[in-house]
Amino acid sequence: MHYRSLSHHLCAVTLTLGLGLGGHAVAADTDPLKIGLILPMTGQQSSTGRQIDAAVKLYMAQNHPTINGRKVEVIVKDDAGTPDTTRRLAQELVVNDKVVALAGFGITPSAMATAPIATQSKTPMVVMAAATSAITEASPFVIRTSFTLPQVSVSIAEWAAKNNIKKVVTLVSDYGPGIDAEKYFANRMVLNGGQVIDKLRTPLRAPDFAPVLQKVRDAAPEALFVFLPSGQGALFMKQFAERGLDKAGIRLIATGDVTDDDQLNDMGDVALGVVTSHHYSANHKSAANQKFVEAFKKANNGMRPNFMSVGGYDGIRVIVEGLKASKGQGGEALLAGMKGQLFESPRGPVLIDGQTRDIVQDVYIRKVERVGGELHNVEFDVQKAVKDPGKTK
Ligand code: DHB
Repeated sequence: MHYRSLSHHLCAVTLTLGLGLGGHAVAADTDPLKIGLILPMTGQQSSTGRQIDAAVKLYMAQNHPTINGRKVEVIVKDDAGTPDTTRRLAQELVVNDKVVALAGFGITPSAMATAPIATQSKTPMVVMAAATSAITEASPFVIRTSFTLPQVSVSIAEWAAKNNIKKVVTLVSDYGPGIDAEKYFANRMVLNGGQVIDKLRTPLRAPDFAPVLQKVRDAAPEALFVFLPSGQGALFMKQFAERGLDKAGIRLIATGDVTDDDQLNDMGDVALGVVTSHHYSANHKSAANQKFVEAFKKANNGMRPNFMSVGGYDGIRVIVEGLKASKGQGGEALLAGMKGQLFESPRGPVLIDGQTRDIVQDVYIRKVERVGGELHNVEFDVQKAVKDPGKTK
């Protein structure tokens, strides 16, 4: 090739990149740093998508992050909660859009389906929602800003033991996080001298709680422990009340996913007095949370943020601060920039553990109460700096 035609050729490549049409070449230094946010914006898990999308938009509007003169751009993709779609979208975002990080992941199967892509492409993947313990072990490029079910399930078992609850039934959604919740709750109950007289499960997709609630009634435990993914709590509460279980002397205890702030206020009196353990309540008393809740509501027609939204808000923060530390580099450098971050979240103080890449956080015991005419998860006890007890290494 002639020297002149070569330089011509290079010019054409540069021009193409400048217009953002580049196919395979490395992005130019002035291009935005892109983050691929994959969420269930439609389908059964759409409240998770709606909450996280709103929280990420709020963070971006509040901070307008730029790194070494490069803007940060978030590309939102809807996987409808279908793992095959999550994986395909992740592949496209890495190959075509050259994202520096993948984020979102509304349910465990979506996160698990994407982990091999993160490993192969060395793309950090920030799990903002999914909460099965094993997800962080599926790829060394996973960072988590949500929580884990073992992390929150042990605390409510401790509370039950202290409150003289000995005979329980468990009811969980029949997949990763539910199986984690069942195991860690039941083991701690037994360790404390309690008894788990039945372990019930309902399907992730389109559950009907009536048959299992009949079994609970027949077993007549002192308490029923429940984990269901975000979005299923309202239907569960309705069926719990319809079957008269709220009046049958069976105490309802749960992880905070069931008294989800996204739905809680519409659940009615049946939810009053339900005791749960979780890492976030919109009612959390701190200046940082008050500021977050007000700004979130203002930007979203009064919508109350739930724990998913906080996972998204903190997750985008961890990525942006990671990019500042790596000076805009992705891959291992970004991963290193995300590990060890310690900051005050709306939920309270949090740490991204450098060893496990999982979140260390306070776990609160809360009770549903009416506050100023609205139902809230009111925190009344706390266990500080809880690590995921589910880690095998
Ligand atoms: C998961 C999903 C949820 O909606 C939730 O509340 C907890 C865990 C999950 O799929 O990991």
